[in-house]
Amino acid sequence: MNSIVKTVPYDDQKPGTSGLRKKVPVFQQENYVENFIQSIFDSVAGYRGETLVIGGDGRYFNRETIQTAIKMAAANGFGRVIVGQGGILSTPAASHLIRKNEAFGGIVLSASHNPGGPEEDFGIKYNVGNGGPAPEKITEAIYQRTLVIDRYAIADSPDIDLDTIGTFQAGDMTVEVVDSVADYADLMESLFDFDAIRAMFSGGFRMVFDAMHAVTGPYAVEILEKRLGAEHGTARNAVPLPDFGGHHPDPNLVHAKDLYDLMMSQNAPDFGAASDGDGDRNLIIGKGIFVTPSDSLAMLAANAHLAPAYKAGLKGIARSMPTSAAADRVAEKLGIGMYETPTGWKFFGNLLDAGLVTICGEESAGTGSDHVREKDGLWAVLLWLNIVAARGESVIDIAGKHWAEYGRNYYSRHDYEGVDTDDANALMAALKEKLPKLPGTTVKGLKVASADDFSYLDPVDGSTSSNQGIRVLFEGGSRVVFRLSGTGTTGATLRVYIERYEPDPARHDVETQEALSDLIAAADAIASIRKHTGRPTPSVIT
Ligand code: G1P
Ligand code: ZN
Repeated sequence: MNSIVKTVPYDDQKPGTSGLRKKVPVFQQENYVENFIQSIFDSVAGYRGETLVIGGDGRYFNRETIQTAIKMAAANGFGRVIVGQGGILSTPAASHLIRKNEAFGGIVLSASHNPGGPEEDFGIKYNVGNGGPAPEKITEAIYQRTLVIDRYAIADSPDIDLDTIGTFQAGDMTVEVVDSVADYADLMESLFDFDAIRAMFSGGFRMVFDAMHAVTGPYAVEILEKRLGAEHGTARNAVPLPDFGGHHPDPNLVHAKDLYDLMMSQNAPDFGAASDGDGDRNLIIGKGIFVTPSDSLAMLAANAHLAPAYKAGLKGIARSMPTSAAADRVAEKLGIGMYETPTGWKFFGNLLDAGLVTICGEESAGTGSDHVREKDGLWAVLLWLNIVAARGESVIDIAGKHWAEYGRNYYSRHDYEGVDTDDANALMAALKEKLPKLPGTTVKGLKVASADDFSYLDPVDGSTSSNQGIRVLFEGGSRVVFRLSGTGTTGATLRVYIERYEPDPARHDVETQEALSDLIAAADAIASIRKHTGRPTPSVIT
């Protein structure tokens, strides 16, 4: 039996950079989850009898939402739901399951790297049949639907036992509870030279992988320890917890500081890595060297041919606009296409589907390839391990040689979190007004070459996305970029991206913030950050 339940709209269900993210108590309001899920179903057509993949990162409210989503999928006419055991699926694993099973789409429950718990963050994201996040025209349609929704459909069926692998029934629909890890681990094994990596581990190579009590724990144990033979305990904080042990599952130098300190210490292992709440981000730290995500993209692209899946070469590379231009130099050398997209993985989907690019990356610790349609934390770790094994060199040596060959893009992001929304909007408005007057002026000794508000024309579907961040380019290739976060749940977050290109290897050993100091000062002078936000320093520097 299905029920049609009357409801009233909420006015704040606009998906951001990566789905709908709110505090748990917001999602717990009456019909809040139901309204959003029904709006998803109402905004897409043709799913009758089709398959829907459902899973999440295990955070607080994951299981409850999964039960609701299953019953609603049943009442709306889906034929089958595939759900990860315990409700667990990393974001890249969900993407893979959608593709492998030719599902109609998927519902991914996560707030990524944001904290979890009864008062913390939760999120619902809809992925389409290619396995990737729904494009803007669908997320906009979902939002429009949430504004007028007046009823939803739900099956009056009992909860599914999510902990038992097997096939169940919800109303007229089949529910398959599947192993969360196996298919994904098989995919990784098909891409990389597991024999070479296994030989490296058995030769004494040591690594630490910090799962941050988030979703990648079981994946890392299976792949790194069981399949690749890394020593027991290589995966740390490997049990997913609903509140991530009270930490931010954000693999950066602030929230993974223990790992960073270990990797900079005398007895550091050879390789350190971490992933975020839902397993799509990565942090790569070699012994004595943190590899920025922008550099990691460039270095992975330059060496990808060493892994079996990419031995024929890359079709092209894509990066988000704020990501450094390090990968551009690799694309140029390889003679392949380079695409600059707005922030957010959803913009890579068309390029990957059209076969224009093989590897994509974002400065926010996201890297991935055409194997799925999400960024993929463990994939990046395994590609690094494959490259280290194939070259027989340390991360620090690989990075040093890369910079010597291509030059170094010093890069950092300064975040001002929890800024008053009006203040942040005023800062961006003032900046936009200033844009036409900036070129030709000199700020803190740096001459502005050009300044604009980034707009993207998708070469595949011809759509345009405007207002994607303010770019100020200086003569010599340095730049600062300003944009407001689309994933935060409290106030506004101002992100300032700072980059300087240094071709001279004799100047490749400068501390990053020092190498960027004139640009940091120029960014404040141009945007009056202190004046608008009242903040003397950023809350997070990555
Ligand atoms: C942030 C990152 C962006 C990433 C997104 C989802 O979005 O900057 O690169 O795709 O999280 O992981 P933002 O908060 O900046 O809108
Ligand atoms: Zn994430």
